[in-house]
Amino acid sequence: MLDKNEHYILLSTKKTSLLLFVNEIKKLTCQYYGKKIASLEEADALTRKRPYLEGTEIQYNEENPLSLNHMKLAYSTLGKGDYFAPSMILENEDSTLFDFVVEGFEEIAPQKIDGLPTPHDADQEVVIHLKEEALQVLVDLHYVIFEDSDTIGSYVEVINKNEKALTITKVMSLQLPLINEDFQLWSTYGNWISELQIQKTPLLRGRQVIESLVGYSSARHNPAFALVASGANFHYGNVYGFNLVYSSNFEDSIEMDSFENVRVQVGISSTAFRKVLQKEEKFTTPMAVMTYSSEGLNGLGEQFHFFVNSHVIPSQWNHMARPIAYNNWEATNFKFNKRKIFSLMKVAAKFGMELFVLDDGWFSTRNDDSHGLGDWEVNEKKLPGGLSALAQRAKKYGMKFGIWMEPEMVNDDTKLYRDHPDWIIHEKFHKPSKGRHQYVLDLTKKEVQEFVYESVAKTLRSAEISYLKWDCNRCISDYDNRNGTFFYDYCRGLYSVLERLIKEFPNVLFENCASGGNRFDLGMLSYFPQSWMSDDTDSYQRLLIQEGGLLFYPPSVMSNHVAAKTSNQLLRYTSYDTKFNIAALGVLGYELDLNDVIGRKDPNVLIKQIDYYKEHRELFQWGKVIQDRTIIDSDHKMIEFLGENEAIVSQFILIGKPNPKEGHLIVYGLEDDAQYEFKTRKESIALKRFGNLVNMVSPIHINPDGRLLPIISKYLEMYSEEDSGTLSGAAFRTVGATLAQEWSGVGYDERVRMLGDFGSRMYYIRKK
Ligand code: DGJ
Repeated sequence: MLDKNEHYILLSTKKTSLLLFVNEIKKLTCQYYGKKIASLEEADALTRKRPYLEGTEIQYNEENPLSLNHMKLAYSTLGKGDYFAPSMILENEDSTLFDFVVEGFEEIAPQKIDGLPTPHDADQEVVIHLKEEALQVLVDLHYVIFEDSDTIGSYVEVINKNEKALTITKVMSLQLPLINEDFQLWSTYGNWISELQIQKTPLLRGRQVIESLVGYSSARHNPAFALVASGANFHYGNVYGFNLVYSSNFEDSIEMDSFENVRVQVGISSTAFRKVLQKEEKFTTPMAVMTYSSEGLNGLGEQFHFFVNSHVIPSQWNHMARPIAYNNWEATNFKFNKRKIFSLMKVAAKFGMELFVLDDGWFSTRNDDSHGLGDWEVNEKKLPGGLSALAQRAKKYGMKFGIWMEPEMVNDDTKLYRDHPDWIIHEKFHKPSKGRHQYVLDLTKKEVQEFVYESVAKTLRSAEISYLKWDCNRCISDYDNRNGTFFYDYCRGLYSVLERLIKEFPNVLFENCASGGNRFDLGMLSYFPQSWMSDDTDSYQRLLIQEGGLLFYPPSVMSNHVAAKTSNQLLRYTSYDTKFNIAALGVLGYELDLNDVIGRKDPNVLIKQIDYYKEHRELFQWGKVIQDRTIIDSDHKMIEFLGENEAIVSQFILIGKPNPKEGHLIVYGLEDDAQYEFKTRKESIALKRFGNLVNMVSPIHINPDGRLLPIISKYLEMYSEEDSGTLSGAAFRTVGATLAQEWSGVGYDERVRMLGDFGSRMYYIRKK
């Protein structure tokens, strides 16, 4: 919704408002962002009053005792008395001082940003035209309203009208002034196998910058972050969230001065950025987005989740059920042949999996990670009959078939590299460095874009392939950034390829991957509706990754797999059920050697999981996510997926303790007066977990470290407790249902909840 008069522009969504104000010196300011206000009648009461300058402040002009430093500017430049970091740094031959004023504003039909992913189905767009008269530069600030998801987008266009070239060294997509509410800054950090770890820091006076320079949005920091007001938590309180629709180097900056004025900026990283515009040329930033909620981090999450599902991912995938995948990577690595793949396929189909994904190693000489990348011809020795034989077999088993590719990369021992050594990212004077034995193809070049497009299109056309995992396994180095926009150009080159691919193959489910989450962002999600979150399939580590991801991204875009009980990454042992309880919180898949599972009780475990997931898929993929705390603050945690008349709640504990507290099943968001029944998802408990205690019941002595116990454990199935009952929504929300006694070193039977280290349970709740 848009309301305006001569000075104010009020942008409103369902529950939020952003109040822009063009003041007496024609500067665009932002006087308010928060809970929705009714009309412009409230504008004056929200506008800063500051008639006197203080101490060392600079008076902008003779007529007005005003300082830019106190003006709550919606964009800013250097040199006229604003001493925060500016949102734009410009220069030309004549000057470094650019002083823009508002010329006017207008409503336009929501438009697609040229060459960059643009969230679709926006409700309204307003452009504020700024002008620097003396130096002949125009700036358009665009604000885009997504009413239903309470999200507002912002992007900037700079147009040079001067004969003299204009150099931009910084241009942020969004600048938002706020007043400190004793904010905590919630952002994420990480690396390979540890993406999206939540980091909370008090907002400091000075400037906190979160940035990526790796060439992608990166696992080091996700572009998404939140400012959480004092006293706010997951359930209530003021929270402001930000993100960027972009997949390359970004910069989030949060600055606070001694008056506790806060300035938030989101945009392309200004490190090593420089764009030169000749007369009439234009530069456009990607779109930054923000949301506000008075309902804490869960409220913020709900709005951003809705935004991603309804406006970011390609619309045909919104609410489209995602298949349960089997992926062979952790089972086989490069060591497989057709027979092995067929055998895995057969078991996967038998267990109820719906999509078979053949990962790395199916092409050329790719039998390890130093060969073959770039030569996208099937290795017929390994896989006689090629991809179509595999796709046909999958079809016969009732499964869909998918494939892995890493189209942006090349190994040097390939035909591609021999034919086109100049296609890799390189610079004149230094030998390019490798990462995972490979180079990155230079997608700023048209011919490389064409090659990448064709390699993928050709593969997809070659068989009945309905899924493609797009990998990207090294960061960018050795770039020639003399023009100052290498990363922006690379990213646009990539987007142009993706745009064409999703147009030609609208029904192929593309999964984004960059060694896991090294390029997990709204830019990639604009093309690929789901993403492999991490190469870490260890259940505890995965929980940390997913709780960070769920703050800003919906479960429908997060692909997670149940892998072998002993994780490849940490060698930590957890049961399949614990692994499922975490992997199911999003798009479920499996990634272990299924032949190791058959012949024991484990097939039943996996089959039951798959049936359970299918039954509640809607909740797992599209439910409203409610979290109660972060695992770094506690030794336990719950994640709820709420649907219309039902919910799934998962509880996790980190380390089992003696004298456990009485367990409760708390469920949020139900109707207070309605009655609900709940039930534990029954899990299997391995006999060998009881160690020497098995001798309490065994007629013969069993050595707990001997050979017999693991053998019996393989075949003898023990079940978890099964809590169930009825409770009102109000009671569920306040005290919750009392759960079975937790194991504490005494008796064990089906009335005891055996959790232990990294233990978990899942419950289904349904309105009666
Ligand atoms: C990294 C990915 O994250 C893995 O899942 C797997 O696809 C490997 N690459 C294959 O090389």
